[in-house]
Amino acid sequence: MKKRTSARPLSANKHLLRWVEKMAELCRPQSVHWVDGSQEEYDDLCAQMVAAGTLIKLNEKLWPGCYYARSDATDVARVEDRTFICSYSKEGAGPTNNWVNPFEMRKKLRGLFNGCMAGRTMYVLPFSMGPIGSPMSQIGVQLTDSPYVVANMRIMARIGLPVYAEIDKAEKRVVPCMHTVGAPLGRGEKDVPWPCSKEKYIVHFPESREIWSYGSGYGGNALLGKKCFALRIASNMARDEGWMAEHMLIVGVEDPKGEKTYVAAAFPSACGKTNFAMLIPPPAFQRKGWKIWTVGDDIAWIKPDANGRLRAINPEAGFFGVAPGTSNKTNPNAMASLARNTIFTNVALTPEGGVWWEGMTDAPPPKLTDWQGKEWTPELAKQTGAKAAHPNARFTAPASQCPTIDPAWEDPAGVPLSAIVFGGRRATTMPLVYQAFNWSGGVYMGATMGSEMTAAAAGTVGKVRRDPMAMLPFCGYHMGDYFRHWITMQRKLSETPRVFHVNWFRKNAEGKFLWPGFSENMRVLKWIVDRTRGRALGKETPIGWVPRYEDIDWTGMKFPQENFDELQAFDRGLWRSEVMGHEELFLDLHDRLPKEMVYERELLICRM
Ligand code: GTP
Ligand code: SPV
Ligand code: MN
Repeated sequence: MKKRTSARPLSANKHLLRWVEKMAELCRPQSVHWVDGSQEEYDDLCAQMVAAGTLIKLNEKLWPGCYYARSDATDVARVEDRTFICSYSKEGAGPTNNWVNPFEMRKKLRGLFNGCMAGRTMYVLPFSMGPIGSPMSQIGVQLTDSPYVVANMRIMARIGLPVYAEIDKAEKRVVPCMHTVGAPLGRGEKDVPWPCSKEKYIVHFPESREIWSYGSGYGGNALLGKKCFALRIASNMARDEGWMAEHMLIVGVEDPKGEKTYVAAAFPSACGKTNFAMLIPPPAFQRKGWKIWTVGDDIAWIKPDANGRLRAINPEAGFFGVAPGTSNKTNPNAMASLARNTIFTNVALTPEGGVWWEGMTDAPPPKLTDWQGKEWTPELAKQTGAKAAHPNARFTAPASQCPTIDPAWEDPAGVPLSAIVFGGRRATTMPLVYQAFNWSGGVYMGATMGSEMTAAAAGTVGKVRRDPMAMLPFCGYHMGDYFRHWITMQRKLSETPRVFHVNWFRKNAEGKFLWPGFSENMRVLKWIVDRTRGRALGKETPIGWVPRYEDIDWTGMKFPQENFDELQAFDRGLWRSEVMGHEELFLDLHDRLPKEMVYERELLICRM
């Protein structure tokens, strides 16, 4: 292997150099590596991780350029109860965030980070969220002792030399992101494949725009450009600067006339964003000329342009997608995206050096190694119920490999946004689709969103919780102020996006999904686009506009009216408890709740 001269600083920015020096003094790594972002560097890092047992190189014929990692069993998802917003005042963080006095927290972190990188390399990882040079982009530098994080960040963000160039121009504030797995190595001590700490701290200082992450190497805990920066810190920037940082996918819907309508949708974690972003229309729709283009699958930064139109960028460059349930049937575009140059984490390994997860094929392979490295067979699983892949197993794949990636996905100006969709995972109450009467009704709709909890975060799977705009774990300030920010955004706009709510997950009395979902969601999306363009009718109900059976295009699908009526059914009793759930959230937020939210609730109750 050629010896790389990676210890040489790749930036001339004095602030950056001084900060790196100071942090190296604190963390005391064995060496410092300035990440250039090149393919050779990536290959070197992966080779080192293969040698260390962190990565397994997959069969090059079956999975070209792909690697496989197994995490520690205690480090498998975001840890919301260990995530902190340390604003100066507790009120700044609000009741939905964990808050610790920032002075106390800094003291705690100084102790934790003291010598935390002993025996390890500290990587200096510059990254741009958004296309480099776009006025909507933001820059961060992550210092991390995890080569796994560096490799994943190379897929998820724009990193390396072009970002140093941006930093050296010194036109943008750089967000410092400290990260350690929290597992210093003593002299001669042997490393483990997935070092991490039992104690975890995912900390944000909103005023100074800093991130400090301790103890985890997994996903949003460790890939700091994603949830920590692009949502928690960026939501603070956005409030101050008049834009929006949202947990939303972005799709372009091309109609038979070739006109494109861009739609953003906020669904909570593991509730279908990646799938919706890569939707393939049913054959009958394809024949008519409908096509879906993917801009982003998780995060949207949205800003009014000079003409008062909302424009959105996807700040990420890759997909960190849920593997289980992803198949050639449910999401062929995701399967194509992850077919090469992908890092898989916590899926199962096949004897041929391939990967598998629940739902990838109808029948599991006869023999696997599961996500914990144990032998797994379908027979054994029948007895124990053990899953081959962890429910939050993920793939890290380059967005550019998605067959439906939108030609404008890296447009520095973003794409024009016409509609916003909210959606949760709800077995009851919520219809397949309805449209808010207006913007404040739409904000109320998003603010009161509920969803059943999923394996994307540690917690009780299945329990319904309020998850405003799918941002409960990601809003970096007081949720009441966030609602107000949403309300006031409209004042900057010459055209207001239409707002909708969808639910793909309603179940019948037997616990079966009432709606087939996936491709068929196109039928709902078409109604949304047609409503947005003033081409479709709807019916007024107490909760908003809904499609009548005949307003949905059913070509190529047998879905009797009584099934549709069951899906759309409005149950007064269930909505009664739904509205009481809204009130519970509002009680928590009362001191900063915009009055529009109170009035909207009253109007809803009156209509009911
Ligand atoms: P995060 O990456 O955690 O933010 O998740 P996500 O919102 O991107 O969710 P994703 O698209 O990965 O889907 C999560 C799970 O929901 C997968 O198991 C999917 O198979 C399932 N899912 C997605 N869309 C549908 C749908 O329309 N119907 C049903 N029944 N399941 C769906
Ligand atoms: C989510 O949980 O919403 C994710 C995965 O997209 S993570 O990056 O871990 O936050
Ligand atoms: Mn997400």
